[in-house]
Amino acid sequence: MTAESEFSIVHFSDAHLFGDPGHVIYGVQPARALKAAIASINAIRPRPDLCIYTGDAVSEQTEAAYRLFKAQMETVGPPVHYAIGNHDDRGSLRRHLLNQGQPGGDPYYYCLHRSGWRLVVLDTSRPGELWGSMEEEQLQWLDRLLRERQPTLVFMHHHPLSIGLSWMDALMLKNADPLLKILEGSQCVEAVFFGHIHFECHLHYAGIHFMSVPAISFQFGEGPWSEKSVSLPGGYRLISLGEQRLRTVVHRLTADELRRA
Ligand SMILES: [Fe+2]
Ligand SMILES: [Fe+2]
Repeated sequence: MTAESEFSIVHFSDAHLFGDPGHVIYGVQPARALKAAIASINAIRPRPDLCIYTGDAVSEQTEAAYRLFKAQMETVGPPVHYAIGNHDDRGSLRRHLLNQGQPGGDPYYYCLHRSGWRLVVLDTSRPGELWGSMEEEQLQWLDRLLRERQPTLVFMHHHPLSIGLSWMDALMLKNADPLLKILEGSQCVEAVFFGHIHFECHLHYAGIHFMSVPAISFQFGEGPWSEKSVSLPGGYRLISLGEQRLRTVVHRLTADELRRA
């Protein structure tokens, strides 16, 4: 099957909210940065078809932080789909953002079909840990899913490839080899999008593009010579899909967008 008409997705990630909307971390007010990002996303024309948020909704797992995150995300124009990050709690995310009454704590992964493309959202979180992992059951689900060839994008929180930054690579998806083998063997995955590292990067491995997005909130330095946190503004990635074609660009929030939030 081939992809059909033009379709666009906003990939954003890592807002890291606190219960106090005025809380500042690394010089950034996360609630304000998220508000600015949402206003910027809502102003995109033509309007994106959907958004995928790849985790770390909150920095502190409190009801107040999740309520604040939910209130802000309800103002996003396009529908939003979620992945779980290492700072998230599966039950809280399900209760607040998916409106599930008695949510379980099992991994949250799923697949969407839009305009000839398959969008796979994985759960790489391991409760209580900063690094990521994937259990055998999820890997088997993915393997079965990808046996049907269809243009596919994968979204997840942790990076599955080394980015060459030792402290951050200690927090990557552990035992990524089975996942990479499935993605490579499927011959239909165009790109993998992830958050977690709080800066933009683009890697190429086994014919697949691997791209991160800047965090909405604070940014990490991307080289071993950098400070841990740097003063770049947050941002998001716009992905445009056409027939047999993928285009993408990262937008960093402008001073004007941040000032208006
Ligand atoms: Fe994060
Ligand atoms: Fe993370």
